[in-house]
Amino acid sequence: MEKVVSGIRSTGHLHLGNYLGALRNFVKMQEGYDCYFFIADLHSLTTHPHPADFHANVKIILSEYLAAGLDPEKCALFVQSDVPEICELYVLLNMLAYKGELERTASFKDKARKNPDNINAGLLTYPVLMASDILVHNADYVPVGKDQEQHLEIARVYARRFNNLYGVEVFKEPRSFNFGNQSPVKVPGLDGSGKMGKSEGNAIYLCDDEATIRKKVMKAVTDSGPSEPNSPMPEVIQNLFTIMNLVSSPDTVSYFTEKWNDCSIRYGDMKKQLAEDICTLTRPVRERIEAVSSDEAYLSKVVAAGREKARASAAATLKAARQAVGFRNF
Ligand code: ADP
Ligand code: TRP
Repeated sequence: MEKVVSGIRSTGHLHLGNYLGALRNFVKMQEGYDCYFFIADLHSLTTHPHPADFHANVKIILSEYLAAGLDPEKCALFVQSDVPEICELYVLLNMLAYKGELERTASFKDKARKNPDNINAGLLTYPVLMASDILVHNADYVPVGKDQEQHLEIARVYARRFNNLYGVEVFKEPRSFNFGNQSPVKVPGLDGSGKMGKSEGNAIYLCDDEATIRKKVMKAVTDSGPSEPNSPMPEVIQNLFTIMNLVSSPDTVSYFTEKWNDCSIRYGDMKKQLAEDICTLTRPVRERIEAVSSDEAYLSKVVAAGREKARASAAATLKAARQAVGFRNF
């Protein structure tokens, strides 16, 4: 079976954008591929998170992904720092990673500009660690958003470079995953911005209680309403409809579309309906987050099974890589 690898950032909570975008795809992929999903806690060290928060962050993300549909019976769900093979491959790949190349990476330039006091080597070599995550399983596919495409390209370069340097075929070149040319769902923000996101400060989180969800939706930016029948929709209103399309029934969407077209739309009613539909969609997930996050025994079982499967897969690749480099047992 073809292999899929993807890392999940270890800080923050899952929001509706992550859920309807990335996570729905993960849930589908685990049905047809050999999936390795992990929480990228090593990567988060670049920003020096407080040790007291470190484990709690991992636990939150793990619980939320489990609650939202990742099934540890169908995929390997693990914590990056539990798999030392990743770090060993990181050392080997670092020898093939050139400083100039890494300095030109968009994410590095961006982070270095924003945090000039913490331009550490881990930040510079972030793409090398990410390449190790992927190549250590010899992944066929990596589901990546636009912002990670350059990192995936770097992983392909290192795979090729390693194979060429040692005259071997140890690594496959991983490809980006997309669902039959369907463009991935993009959930817009409710504040008139293009995208819902943590850093945009406009996210509806799956762990938000229903009063908070209603409050956030009722505050969504709108305009003064259509001035004549069938007028084109401005982006802020289109955004409301885009979310409604993702969370509400087709009847609800047609009802409000007609109201827009005949100029009788009342945004207050539309937002109320949208808030109810978001609450209904997220309620089961919210309930599972509470159940899962308080079940330490379950979480530790999931992580242990994930670690075992990930280490077995990683060890096989690493053995070939060590052999290629020239390591031999005495
Ligand atoms: P954020 O942008 O909130 O920081 P991340 O960058 O951690 O979220 O995203 C994790 C995954 O969720 C990525 O695969 C990303 O493409 C997806 N994602 C994030 N925001 C959205 C959104 N608004 N719509 C669709 N997918 C999204
Ligand atoms: N860099 C990715 C992000 O910020 C997370 C990540 C780490 C990852 N290792 C990975 C994604 C390997 C895919 C494959 O979202």
